[in-house]
Amino acid sequence: MTRIIGICGSLRAASYNRGLLRACATLLPEGASLEVVEIGDLPLMNEDLEKPGWPQAVQRLRRAVWPAEALLIACPEYNAGIPAPLKNAIDWLSRAEGLGGTTATAGETRRTPLAGLPTAIIGASPGMLGTARAQQHLRMSLQSIGTLVMPGPEAFVAGARGKFDEESNLVDEPSRAAVGRVLAGLVAWTARLKAS
Ligand SMILES: Cc1cc2nc3c(=O)[nH]c(=O)nc-3n(C[C@H](O)[C@H](O)[C@H](O)COP(=O)(O)O)c2cc1C
Repeated sequence: MTRIIGICGSLRAASYNRGLLRACATLLPEGASLEVVEIGDLPLMNEDLEKPGWPQAVQRLRRAVWPAEALLIACPEYNAGIPAPLKNAIDWLSRAEGLGGTTATAGETRRTPLAGLPTAIIGASPGMLGTARAQQHLRMSLQSIGTLVMPGPEAFVAGARGKFDEESNLVDEPSRAAVGRVLAGLVAWTARLKAS
């Protein structure tokens, strides 16, 4: 079993990127599971909030991510980069245990929840580039904190308005196939890293 934790970088109710994660739940390879964790209740990163202990929402997020074997991020693009809510979540997850007191997630061996975690990025946007710039930006940021971002396959769902239905479900078959390839790749990437 490969336990994948999913993060949607959009807080919008009818988010295409949340729709991508819903599609992923139906396209998982056998033996993989996907749980999506919410990031909308996190306070904005402020080191003053780390003492005496992390805020409840931060602890909840970190506890959800620690046991995951792999991470899947659905990344929208805002102004050619990572949307603020997603960057905020990554900043909270990048902090070492101990900074937030001893209550958070004692007993873990990795330095941070994201260090060494096999990860894949996908994204959808109504524009022509399908979040390519934001994904590149996110890849760079994650690499700087030791997250093991899968080199490929990649999935950029461009022109999203024509590829999702009115409920923001992904209906475009080539896009579903592309996302399916990312999921299969992530499971293989996770197994390869586990074995090494
Ligand atoms: C502040 C802001 C900046 C945006 N900048 C971009 C952009 O640089 N490139 C792009 O393709 N779409 C951009 N968009 C449009 C988003 O891709 C679009 O709103 C998309 O639906 C957001 O993802 P979601 O559907 O998952 O919420 C921007 C939207 C907002 C609100």
